Amino acid sequence: MEHGEKVKMADSQGTPTLFSPYKMGKFNLSHRVVLAPMTRCRALNGIPRPALAEYYTQRSTPGGFLITEGTLISDTGAGFPHVPGIYNEEQVEAWKMIVDAVHAKGGIIFCQLWHVGRASHTVYQPGGVAPISSTNKPISKRWRILMPDGSYGIYPKPRPLETSEIQEVVEHYHKAALNAIRAGFDGIEIHGAHGYLIDQFLKDGINDRTDEYGGSLANRCKFLMQIVQAVASAIGIDRVAIRMSPAIDHLDATDSNPLNLGLAVIERLNKLQLQLGSKLAYLHVTQPRYHAYGQTESGKHGNEDEEAYLLKELKRTYQGTFMCSGGFNRELGMQAVAEGDADLVSYGRLFISNPDLVLRLKVNAPLNRYIRKTFYTHDPVVGYTDYPFLNEEKGRQVQSRL
Ligand SMILES: Cc1cc2nc3c(=O)[nH]c(=O)nc-3n(C[C@H](O)[C@H](O)[C@H](O)COP(=O)(O)O)c2cc1C
Repeated sequence: MEHGEKVKMADSQGTPTLFSPYKMGKFNLSHRVVLAPMTRCRALNGIPRPALAEYYTQRSTPGGFLITEGTLISDTGAGFPHVPGIYNEEQVEAWKMIVDAVHAKGGIIFCQLWHVGRASHTVYQPGGVAPISSTNKPISKRWRILMPDGSYGIYPKPRPLETSEIQEVVEHYHKAALNAIRAGFDGIEIHGAHGYLIDQFLKDGINDRTDEYGGSLANRCKFLMQIVQAVASAIGIDRVAIRMSPAIDHLDATDSNPLNLGLAVIERLNKLQLQLGSKLAYLHVTQPRYHAYGQTESGKHGNEDEEAYLLKELKRTYQGTFMCSGGFNRELGMQAVAEGDADLVSYGRLFISNPDLVLRLKVNAPLNRYIRKTFYTHDPVVGYTDYPFLNEEKGRQVQSRL
């Protein structure tokens, strides 16, 4: 079967729904409701704990697809407290238990590889040094960083990477991808979105470099593409996914032409796929159509029409599986899949508060409301694994309708 071919249409008109199966390269997904990557700050001191196994298995379904929270590629990558890493043996060992638990429930799970770049603070850096970036411009005071004690701080001035240092960071992604496969993950997603390190190279509102990694679109895409190539050659392109958010200005990540930037990345991904004779697992694009993201308000948003146009163009141009994210509810997700605007839809906040979101969307059940103040707290249960399942509220009759 061809990559991306729809396996079976679920409704009587032959239109795919969120609950139609989907063949994502080598992975057979039983539905299109994906757990979006979400930082939850429960991996005390960077080590994934048993609480994470509980959290991810609660959200696993047979043939369902999950993406982990952003997981650090190196000890300079953190910008939140208690974020898990995948750069040392203790972390790799700890992840195994979580991945095994998800697999035991039939889930398919990718690890999101993350480096925050300048979205960090000296308190998170080994030796208390300045965080690295493409630039020496700090994130503006419009944004605040969550500090280890729960207070909010000002982002410090970063240190721009020397040209000669960039290859070492690429190598960290490469090693982290190999580690993820050793831990049993089905693949990895490269976090190229939301104003973090890779986005700090992609966007011309941040990247002010005068070397081969700055200036033209080709130069700004270079860091991402070197990472994609390194990782694809290590674990196989069909286990690699990319996340980007050309139109999101989170952490001052603005670009003068988001559509052109998105298309430039896609052109390179399409070309690489042709060269390697195989496709990436998927391309994941976040839309700015959501408010009060994280602890701050995202600033300007394009209007709905502009956003819809951008997304449709990116989807139309990318030759592979396309996942969208950002402000999707049941109706919008159904619409995106039915109209061919996305193959898969990832859900973030609604999945935080509804461990059985797949079931709830399927039977159109009411949803639990999420509690924002426990998004980034550290209790292994409260606000993490204690959101109720439908069968806890209503008895077993709804579950049996599946
Ligand atoms: C608490 C929280 C943590 C998040 N952490 C990450 C992350 O680690 N990596 C990432 O790519 N996106 C992250 N996101 C963004 C989500 O993946 C998602 O794109 C966003 O919440 C929009 O989807 P939604 O409207 O369904 O929540 C986070 C969002 C939330 C609410």
